[in-house]
Amino acid sequence: METIKRTKIKDLLISKPDGREINVKGWVRTFRNNQFISINDGSTIHNLQAVINFENTASETLKRISTGAALSITGKLVPSLGKGQTMELQAETLEILGDCDPEQYPLQLKNRPSLEYLRENAHLRFRTNTFSAIFRIRHALAFAIHDFFNKRGFVYLNTPIITASDAEGAGEMFHVTSLSIANPPRNETGKVDFKEDFFGKETHLTVSGQLEAELGAMALGEVYTFGPTFRAENSNTTRHLAEFWMIEPEVAFANLNDDMDLAEDLLKYVMRHVLDNCKDDLEFLNNRFLEEEKTKPQQDRAELDLLQKLHFCTDNKFERITYTEAIEILKNSTPNKKKKFQYFINEWGVDLQSEHERFLVEKHFKKPVILTDYPKEIKAFYMRLNDDNKTVRAMDILFPGIGEIIGGSQREERLDILENKMKTMNIPAEEMYWYLDTRRFGSAPHAGFGLGFERLVLFVTGMTNIRDVIPFPRFPKSAEF
Ligand code: 4AD
Ligand code: MG
Repeated sequence: METIKRTKIKDLLISKPDGREINVKGWVRTFRNNQFISINDGSTIHNLQAVINFENTASETLKRISTGAALSITGKLVPSLGKGQTMELQAETLEILGDCDPEQYPLQLKNRPSLEYLRENAHLRFRTNTFSAIFRIRHALAFAIHDFFNKRGFVYLNTPIITASDAEGAGEMFHVTSLSIANPPRNETGKVDFKEDFFGKETHLTVSGQLEAELGAMALGEVYTFGPTFRAENSNTTRHLAEFWMIEPEVAFANLNDDMDLAEDLLKYVMRHVLDNCKDDLEFLNNRFLEEEKTKPQQDRAELDLLQKLHFCTDNKFERITYTEAIEILKNSTPNKKKKFQYFINEWGVDLQSEHERFLVEKHFKKPVILTDYPKEIKAFYMRLNDDNKTVRAMDILFPGIGEIIGGSQREERLDILENKMKTMNIPAEEMYWYLDTRRFGSAPHAGFGLGFERLVLFVTGMTNIRDVIPFPRFPKSAEF
């Protein structure tokens, strides 16, 4: 029966309330005095107030207008006399598209639900202000990333999700198999015979698209991936997911400095995009952040609020120091001397823990830091060896509150050195002939990095648990929804 097309609330709120006839569809947030409906359709954090004439509305219908119910309302958009909104919808016809039983609805709560409760109800949490803001910002960040690379002429390359290679040389992968788990075929020596498997060899979910991206870069010049990656490490932390999205640019004819410049430009570009385009959502999350801070003791409170923090990152040059310089700073730091670190720093060569990274970023430099030239032993096989024969052209970007947000390097383009490295690190060179072919045929200097998308969203939204910035988090003992 409806003749008017639906308008999104976001568009209504920037239009003139000139008395014209409009239709909105959305979900009830609150219903007051049998008269005022606050309705939200997901297009913006803001609700539209619809006013119904309860004398003309059947009491049966009034009863069904409850939090969470889906409605279609048609009426006139007029200036509002009440406080808190500039316009309102004078409802003429109201249709209930979907009831929402208050007795049953998990979000029908008197108090604000905890993030933990909402994680358990991740299928419904999009309906809260916090999560709708987070996922609109997540979208804006993804868009800005594609926009950034497109403007620079990068080719978006989709690398495989199922792979037989192990890009990071770490044994933390999920197997992919079509064999019977209970009773797999076995060879003469009793081992599982993967020749019988779907792909005729052992396969798993990818931990990174880098190696394949390198193949693309060595012909297309500049490529990037943006896809899901998987790690089976048993990390039950607020920074790790078993399934996360990664952006991996790879650039031919680039060195480590070019790589760092690209990474810094990218991060600043996408943060600026969100500051310019997601003002309402950011403002909401900023207030949320400030409320959270108030619950902490004074000395634990952040110096900057969320908006200030984002501006601070876009306006300042990231600090660039070598691993060796970082070790000196850490060795002489107060928490190290007072044995406050869980892992004591006493010598060059140790891997940095997140407590050390956070000290450098949050206490020492108080800004994003790019650490370069790590010891070769603690980094992946493909990183370019420096002339000192001890360190590699690696870089990690460390962010306040997050720790490592980007990891990257200039790649080893010299065939002999790469082959030697693979031998010492037990990487099967024969199986990786395709990777080594890039070094055999027209090798060239090149560099790239991986940006963890959820760590970026975490930083930009000011949230503190990575499980709250991906729609359906995957972590140890949890694959719900
Ligand atoms: O440092 P990583 O392991 O680097 C690579 O995978 C390289 N192949 C990237 C490249 O050079 N192309 O991972 C890159 C980033 C990290 O800095 C971090 O932000 C994120 O991916 N990351 C995770 N995010 C969420 N959960 C996890 N378990 C993550 N592991 C890494
Ligand atoms: Mg890393």
